[in-house]
Amino acid sequence: MPDALINRLLRAPVGLRSRVRIAALRACGMQIGRRCRLVRVSVPTNPWDVRLHDGVALDERVVLLAFGPRRGSPRIEIGARTYVNRHTMFDASLSITVGADVMIGPFCYVTDHDHDTAPGVAPGALPLVEVETIIGDRVWLGAGVTVMKGVRIGDDAVVGAGAVVTRDVAPGARVAGVPARAVMPSAGRAHA
Ligand SMILES: CC(C)(COP(=O)(O)OP(=O)(O)OC[C@H]1O[C@@H](n2cnc3c(N)ncnc32)[C@H](O)[C@@H]1OP(=O)(O)O)[C@@H](O)C(=O)NCCC(=O)NCCS
Repeated sequence: MPDALINRLLRAPVGLRSRVRIAALRACGMQIGRRCRLVRVSVPTNPWDVRLHDGVALDERVVLLAFGPRRGSPRIEIGARTYVNRHTMFDASLSITVGADVMIGPFCYVTDHDHDTAPGVAPGALPLVEVETIIGDRVWLGAGVTVMKGVRIGDDAVVGAGAVVTRDVAPGARVAGVPARAVMPSAGRAHA
């Protein structure tokens, strides 16, 4: 059997299940644009808090966790044609915005809150500390990136695999590491 046919056969049930899933989530209040693809995503609470623009693709086991009382605007918004790879989680109590044409690698975690802490008190018993998190257009997050609350990642920025982003990233910057810092292409290696 030709390779292209094998791949089409493998994708056929995925496409069908995606359409059924999208219809069910829309019925629950999630705002999903046209030509989106959702492969076994998890929306544990507040589907009305998620807005996906046209052409968004969420791959297997992506988690869209939004929580808090119902309000007028979504807590998780993902821009047009953005792709999110497998096992990535968005954890929003206030607001996470992802731009258009963004590429998010597998096993990433993006949040907009911390637990407050105090000696002798369980973190879960304290209120959350919340600050809006924004990822710009055409950003690329490599595999296993963590984006902390309140961070703004500028348009066209690149975040290396395994980074923990604790501060804003300038548009077009390349950052990596824990905490994420600017990286320059290594000397002696060819870069366009
Ligand atoms: C960030 C990245 C794009 C940088 O690529 P690059 O511009 O070619 O950079 P280089 O490989 O020349 O490395 C430049 C420097 O940054 C360091 N660096 C690169 N990636 C790093 C990372 N993820 N974490 C820590 N340091 C990193 C290199 O060690 C090098 O430092 P040195 O000069 O002190 O040796 C790339 O390394 C990366 O992490 N890509 C993500 C891959 C991925 O996750 N793919 C799958 C998901 S879509």
